[in-house]
Amino acid sequence: MQKSAAIQQAWDRKYPEQVVLVITKSPDDRINLMAVGWVTLVSDEPPMFICGIDDPAYTLELIRRNKEFVIAYPSRAMAKETLYAGTVHGHEIDKGKISGLRFEASSKVGVPLLSDAVANFECRLVTEYRPGNCPLIVGEVVASSVNTDERVTRLINAGKGYLLQ
Ligand SMILES: Cc1cc2nc3c(=O)[nH]c(=O)nc-3n(C[C@H](O)[C@H](O)[C@H](O)COP(=O)(O)O)c2cc1C
Repeated sequence: MQKSAAIQQAWDRKYPEQVVLVITKSPDDRINLMAVGWVTLVSDEPPMFICGIDDPAYTLELIRRNKEFVIAYPSRAMAKETLYAGTVHGHEIDKGKISGLRFEASSKVGVPLLSDAVANFECRLVTEYRPGNCPLIVGEVVASSVNTDERVTRLINAGKGYLLQ
């Protein structure tokens, strides 16, 4: 049985929600990373992701500038680092370095992969929409990689207030 509820109240019941790290590179070669929950596959031929990336994010500026980014599925061991990437802006700081995470070269884009992620997707910007208040970024996957250890599993956002586990 259902009862009428405010949208926010109903949204609070959406968890668990997935979380990814969107990796970009700044003009002075800093690695930036941001946590994104509003993300999904929207095409498999060619493979494409869509991400909702809000205006204040440095990531949005870097994607518009470089037209490329990496989507990494963080592992369950990366809760602290993902929360950090998702609560601090990267305009003035080196989030890649401060996070302590390990990165390695991508095969097709100039943005690095997250070495210990479950999987990485190298993306090129296809288009950007703005149907509501949040810019939606569509990226085509041009290369992908997976962790060699199959026991490494994905981090999720289990509840309101960034309950990463
Ligand atoms: C679990 C989690 C999920 C998030 N999901 C989104 C999202 O879908 N879209 C968004 O714009 N910001 C999201 N954020 C907030 C951004 O990650 C945050 O604003 C970040 O500091 C932006 O970094 P940047 O300015 O270096 O790009 C999320 C944060 C967390 C912790």
